Amino acid sequence: MNPARWPLPASAEATANIAMVKYWGKRDAALNLPAADSVAVCLDSFPTRVDVTPCAAAEDEVWWSGRPVPPPRIGRFLRVLAILREQSGCRSAVRADVRSQIPDAVGLAGSSAAMAAFALAASTAMGVELSPRELSITARLGSGSASRSVPGGFVRWHRGHQEDGSDSYAEEFASAAHWPDLRLLAVIVSREPKAVSSTVGMIRTARTAPLYPMFVEQCGRLAADAQAAIASRDFGWLARTAELSAQTMHGVCLTARPPILYVRPLTVELVEHVTELSRTLPLFFTLDAGPNPFLVTLAPHDETVAAEVARAFPDVEILRCGVGGGVRIVA
Ligand code: PMV
Repeated sequence: MNPARWPLPASAEATANIAMVKYWGKRDAALNLPAADSVAVCLDSFPTRVDVTPCAAAEDEVWWSGRPVPPPRIGRFLRVLAILREQSGCRSAVRADVRSQIPDAVGLAGSSAAMAAFALAASTAMGVELSPRELSITARLGSGSASRSVPGGFVRWHRGHQEDGSDSYAEEFASAAHWPDLRLLAVIVSREPKAVSSTVGMIRTARTAPLYPMFVEQCGRLAADAQAAIASRDFGWLARTAELSAQTMHGVCLTARPPILYVRPLTVELVEHVTELSRTLPLFFTLDAGPNPFLVTLAPHDETVAAEVARAFPDVEILRCGVGGGVRIVA
């Protein structure tokens, strides 16, 4: 390798992934190693693009939608760059520009897409060739759930057992084509950034919530169930598993000190409405660390679900997606 050649401009795109079995809690906070396995679906729409370019400034810069990313958030990106610099001879500064189509910090997994695209664009810019597994690990160091936006399709993130995190990465266990009818609808009830970040929420829950050990204990079993339900395209089994995972994640947050409540009154009304609709339609909800639920259904019912939700909640915004994704280099 000739370090003087690097960095070169490189751009990548990734989409968010939505956990059916949640990651909530770390066995190592510095390396973003999860306490348990998780299972997710990668989206086919609303990609986040990251452009990495050489930079004349003395230090690396990261911009998000045209604004500099402030500390401590920029630290996640700098951590990834530091790891890549250890593997590349490249010492010059870079600038990264993130352009996301997902509202930021509202619990719609925007950071997973951004960090996955950033890991690929930055490693390419610095001339570091990574296997899919290594890329997933590198993205994980920036944001845990980003490890799952690297492969695409239906993915499982392995908790791993090594202290250095070398066996904690995500891999596809079924391609998007395996279940083309699965549809996801993001329902945006609020664009307010969440008050408690996932990292702070996870640490507080693990330290103070009496129900936390029970939550972690069930994750492995739920991950196995979700993977088997997806493998056999058993919608009812996936619905029960995914709702239980989201319910227990939010339940355990409620038992933290001080309590963490990501839902808003409108979220509760929506969940009740969706539960009612699910009596006659293939439909379930999931909720990340924010007030905005994701609804999961099967084509062609997504039209009906979107219409029913819009009718009952005229002020919410609905984003419709299918399964897809997988990080890639773009021109
Ligand atoms: O990777 P983070 O720090 O953004 O945490 C993601 C946590 C949840 O979205 C709530 C759950 C998950 O598995 O995606």
